[in-house]
Amino acid sequence: MPATIAPNFHSRTVEILDSLEQSGQLKLLQSIEGPMDATVRMRGHGEVVCLCSNNYLGLANHPEVVEAGIAGLRKYGAGTASVRFICGTFDCHERIEARIAQFYGVEASYTFTSCWNANEAIFATLCEPGDMIVSDEFNHASIIDGIRLAVSIKKGLLRGVYKHGDLNALRERLVGARANSEVTGTIWVVTDGVFSMEGDIADLPGIRALCDEFGALLIVDDSHGTGVMGASGRGTHEHWGMSATKIDYFTGTLGKALGGAAGGYIAGSRRAIDLIVQRGRPTLFSNALPCSVACSADKAIEVLMREPQRVTRLRDNVAYAREGIAKLGFSVLESPTAICPIIVHDTAKAIHMSRQLLDSGVFVIGFGYPVVPEGHARLRVQISAAHEQAHLDTLFTALATLAR
Ligand SMILES: Cc1ncc(COP(=O)(O)O)c(C=O)c1O
Repeated sequence: MPATIAPNFHSRTVEILDSLEQSGQLKLLQSIEGPMDATVRMRGHGEVVCLCSNNYLGLANHPEVVEAGIAGLRKYGAGTASVRFICGTFDCHERIEARIAQFYGVEASYTFTSCWNANEAIFATLCEPGDMIVSDEFNHASIIDGIRLAVSIKKGLLRGVYKHGDLNALRERLVGARANSEVTGTIWVVTDGVFSMEGDIADLPGIRALCDEFGALLIVDDSHGTGVMGASGRGTHEHWGMSATKIDYFTGTLGKALGGAAGGYIAGSRRAIDLIVQRGRPTLFSNALPCSVACSADKAIEVLMREPQRVTRLRDNVAYAREGIAKLGFSVLESPTAICPIIVHDTAKAIHMSRQLLDSGVFVIGFGYPVVPEGHARLRVQISAAHEQAHLDTLFTALATLAR
């Protein structure tokens, strides 16, 4: 054993964990003992109202979605035991990919085992040296790391970050990119549709206009907007009244509104998807989406397309919850999304408040550093179409107790 290295690693790990514990920042993994729904059975707490899942449309435990997953398991077995290009492409993959493309109204899509993987694939595959990627500073960690990876493996691929949601800052970046002699290829702009920690939305019409002005391509990760935003849940572009064709590429997850299991995708032009199939390292070197998940997610999208009233119900619940929280004197960032962050600044305080809420039968997670920047800790309340008004009233009662 390399005695000089191992004790060093051991002691520094213990030090980090101890310091997290002492400062009240240690995350406790809560164990759920049943399906994800409006309420969940939590070990040690019994039945609690769940207000921190991404189960926006209540499809995670929908009977048809569950049955489709079981049927997929029966038909295809436990897994593909292969990456896609060897022997891991099953007809259920073709079906879900056609479904995703149909849902957006774009040419094609390709699935991954997570949206993290999709974001790891898209930049490293589609971008080349001489290109520049311009990214909103609050983009999801998977976008940030996907860009870091692409830049590190393609020398000469450039990146820039613009101030969150600031179109003037984006314009400045684009002006700079066009004036930069090292930028000889494509300029890419990437943004979350709905920002996961703020719950605000990207100004897609403004961003599209700038992309057109500067000849840039636009990628939108709408993981929190798909199934939530727009009259039929198509996403943030629909909220803005934009056609999906105005977005060059979408990335998204199957792990939130669309069944909630796991999996991600890239959707857009056939040509780009063909390139991803040939060159995307997460798909060349990692197993295919499990067939049971492909089948349950396919059913979830079918249910969403058949029952757009789920989106309306979610919207009504969001309005009711936002109004109720604000009435109690908590400041919630204004937005039409299902993510309602209550900013409390201090990480230990957020975690403590979250534990108090749990004692009142309400499950809301407190987020602190490193998930959000130091000093920006928050309780993130997330609303679902599965909630009844009574569930949201329980939240208000618990928050009122907290406020007192
Ligand atoms: C904007 C965004 N992109 C990507 C992801 C990652 O999704 P997945 O769980 O499918 O990897 C998330 C998950 O939180 C997200 O919010």
